[in-house]
Amino acid sequence: MIEVSAPGKLYIAGEYAVVEPGHPAIIVAVDQFITVSLEQTKNVGSITSFQYGNLPILWRRHHDQLVLDKRENPFHYILAAITVTEKYAKELNKELSLFSLTIDSELDSSNGRKYGLGSSAAVTVATVKALCQFYELEDTDELVFKLAALAHLSVKSNGSCGDVAASVYGGWIAFTTFDREWVTAQQNERKSSIKELIDKDWPLLSITPLTPPRDLRLVIGWTGSPASTSDLVDEVTNQRSRDQNAYEQFLKESKQCVNLMVQGFQNNNIGLIQEQIRTNRELLIKMSKDTGVVIETPALTRLCTVAELYHGAAKSSGAGGGDCGIVLFNRKEGLLPLMTAWEEEGITNLPLHVYNNK
Ligand code: PMV
Ligand code: MG
Repeated sequence: MIEVSAPGKLYIAGEYAVVEPGHPAIIVAVDQFITVSLEQTKNVGSITSFQYGNLPILWRRHHDQLVLDKRENPFHYILAAITVTEKYAKELNKELSLFSLTIDSELDSSNGRKYGLGSSAAVTVATVKALCQFYELEDTDELVFKLAALAHLSVKSNGSCGDVAASVYGGWIAFTTFDREWVTAQQNERKSSIKELIDKDWPLLSITPLTPPRDLRLVIGWTGSPASTSDLVDEVTNQRSRDQNAYEQFLKESKQCVNLMVQGFQNNNIGLIQEQIRTNRELLIKMSKDTGVVIETPALTRLCTVAELYHGAAKSSGAGGGDCGIVLFNRKEGLLPLMTAWEEEGITNLPLHVYNNK
């Protein structure tokens, strides 16, 4: 039996801007995993999941048609990961076969409740890796990232794939996404095979591991209310035209801010990293006001205000609207009182650590 795990993720900085090709974000992999087990079968294949069994299939109405929203249900990512990886395997002259696939997730609670730790990315990555082993394909990080990213594009996910990169590479990374139009054109207009596409350099894609300063400490708070990343990204995309100049400015300033934060990592400068976390929080708050999309909810504001009282640099993580906030501290001291103060505000500390897979 093949058994493969992939970690969840948390965004540290650069959210929303990172959806735009060439704009950086900093993301970490966390030590909670999705595990995929795969076993060859004879007559019929199967996909079983302990956590996703009861999830609803979401749909919307579009010109009198019922349209499935495939972006929130992990099953669609699993199917897309299988389809893309098998297409690639076939191009390499592998013979396709039947298997049973079992998924067990630490990133979702048993009633399907999400913490916002990137379960769709992790399940895609784990499925791609399991199939690479099954079909004896060489599974370099770059190959797994590109196959998983193609699977995400095929379910019409509007994300940057930063969550996919964090799950594949582990640790702390700086990430900018690829030119999505170029990739789509390669597939549709040029009719590139998956192999040809994988072998090319993808414009603007960059994934760079970062070494955190020794005394940098990441603390995670959970608001307890789930948020839909794909809906929030849709809303920002729809509303950004309200003031196009303001959004362009946001993109420019987010890029500057995250690039300075990367310098903080390179120069072991925790003060600089913390300063940029606070700047990024302000940039997101301003963009939220300009677009009317709520990113920092009242619970996230309480999470940040309390953390700042204890000298942490805090902000919402990811799309916001609920889910988690992150705090960066210099050294270990003084964290216990924060936990107590958070509890009083209804914020739960998630005892997660950064996961390094190398
Ligand atoms: O809410 P999360 O943790 O899935 O993060 C979303 C981050 C965005 O930049 C808003 C979207 C994306 O896919 O990059
Ligand atoms: Mg989220």
